[in-house]
Amino acid sequence: MSLPLSPDDVRVLKSLTHWWEQAGIEPLAPLPEARPSGRPARPAAPQRSDTPAPASSRATPQAARAAGFGAPPPHEDARAVAARAGTLDALKAALTGYDGCTLKVTATRLVFARGNPEARVMVVGEAPGREEDIAGAPFVGRSGQLLDRMLGAIGLGPEDVYISNVVFWRPPGNRKPTDAEIAACRPFAERHIALVKPEFLVLAGGIAAQSMLRVNDGITALRGRWSEFTPEGGAPIPALPVYHPAFLLRRPQEKARAWEDLLSLKARLDGQDA
Ligand code: URA
Repeated sequence: MSLPLSPDDVRVLKSLTHWWEQAGIEPLAPLPEARPSGRPARPAAPQRSDTPAPASSRATPQAARAAGFGAPPPHEDARAVAARAGTLDALKAALTGYDGCTLKVTATRLVFARGNPEARVMVVGEAPGREEDIAGAPFVGRSGQLLDRMLGAIGLGPEDVYISNVVFWRPPGNRKPTDAEIAACRPFAERHIALVKPEFLVLAGGIAAQSMLRVNDGITALRGRWSEFTPEGGAPIPALPVYHPAFLLRRPQEKARAWEDLLSLKARLDGQDA
């Protein structure tokens, strides 16, 4: 369908998509062309100056807010909002109303968690993909199926784990979340763990491990080494970084190492030091 857009409309749209591009958001479709001349034009919007500012200089945070995109609040705000949530339902509601992560604009829906919040094990992954964005639940696509099989291999069924992500909205095209997107979601991810208080935390992939443990090492160095995540005002929780199942789908030869890590988790669950 082609819309009857004036050259002015197209300029405004371009300034908006420029801002989207800067925020790492992919355009879903090319911009429509301006209406061919000859068709009646809508009356021009009043200009504040005879010389309109170039499109790029109008793609400001103020313009973005005016266009309905919330500017990210300072992280203290996000932390305070997350800290006020006293239950998982309240945390989910707080995230639903949170506009600090630009991914919310392009995602279909919030992807919060699945599984049993009373489980001994909480798995935290990276960010939802396409299937998760459609279903509204984490790890339901191919990598989620592998994750379920891996956990099943050490006797953990759907009721024995609680699963979520560091980032709660799908990055466009399943790209990696940016540092800003991770930082915008981190207070909620940390509060999530604090509310669930699992006995053991499994961090699936480098992004989950680095952002929850606040380290820069790669997953190859981190995996299989027990560490601790200490929620604000809470007791330390033993945390085990493991390879992300999506990585194992691409590199099945690494499954032997993933199996070692699962056995280490099983030993801890069985009360043995691993
Ligand atoms: N990968 C993740 O890290 N999380 C999901 O929910 C799905 C795929």
